[in-house]
Amino acid sequence: MNNNLPADYHMHSHNSGDSKAPMEDMIESALERGLSEICFTEHMDLDYPEYPDLPPEQFTLNIPAYREELFKYREKYKDRINIKFGIEVGMQPQVTAQNLQLVKENNFDFVIASIHLVDKKDPFYDDFWGWDTIENIFRRFFDVTLENLKLFTDYDVLGHLDYVARYVPNGDTTYSYERFKDQIDEILAHLARNGKGLDFNSKVLGYSDTLLPNPCPQALKRFKELGGEIITFGSDAHRPDTIGCEFAKMRQIALDCGFTHYYTFDHRVPTAHQL
Ligand SMILES: [Fe+2]
Repeated sequence: MNNNLPADYHMHSHNSGDSKAPMEDMIESALERGLSEICFTEHMDLDYPEYPDLPPEQFTLNIPAYREELFKYREKYKDRINIKFGIEVGMQPQVTAQNLQLVKENNFDFVIASIHLVDKKDPFYDDFWGWDTIENIFRRFFDVTLENLKLFTDYDVLGHLDYVARYVPNGDTTYSYERFKDQIDEILAHLARNGKGLDFNSKVLGYSDTLLPNPCPQALKRFKELGGEIITFGSDAHRPDTIGCEFAKMRQIALDCGFTHYYTFDHRVPTAHQL
């Protein structure tokens, strides 16, 4: 077993609409935690709906400003930590062409494809829930995920596969891998067949004793069984103190699921590292 913690490949700074963290604070925290590589993956969610408490286009990323800041710190910290230039692209069918274009035009190291919206609503907000049974909402979420992955093809990993499970109304127990196995397996097989990976995302472990990481371990295990190879570790940190959140525990889960390696990326090319 490798004693170094896996690289954190899902992190946000003030360049993302929902973070206030200075980039340098995130880097310093990663150093304190002993990480030797990190990848910023700032949000780009085009056509994000308007919410009363949010400014319009809150998740439209200023890529040139982000790039300039990142490259400044990459140079400053080059002897201490590798800093990669990534993005988390929010998928919706109507912005697919724009998303493909922006990935093509920018020389990212790493691209996460995520679903944050189902029919233009974010499960993070209470008004998302209630339009149907929770079972049907999950079914719609997984349908939308696969539909978008077939359209937006220029990515490296799928972000937090069962994202919607993070925000279910308190105490609801509808979600399990087994219950949605038919749909989840189809997504996992699609990723494996296309050489794509999974973001193994620890965010909820930082604040909940009951929620599971995304994807849940059973889905991660199934990905391996279906021929999936590429996994990256992501804290989804939006603040310095949650970088590398529970990565020791996450590594053990990945090992238990049959994975022996995790991946980092350089100019979109994956490299395997022993777990
Ligand atoms: Fe996300």
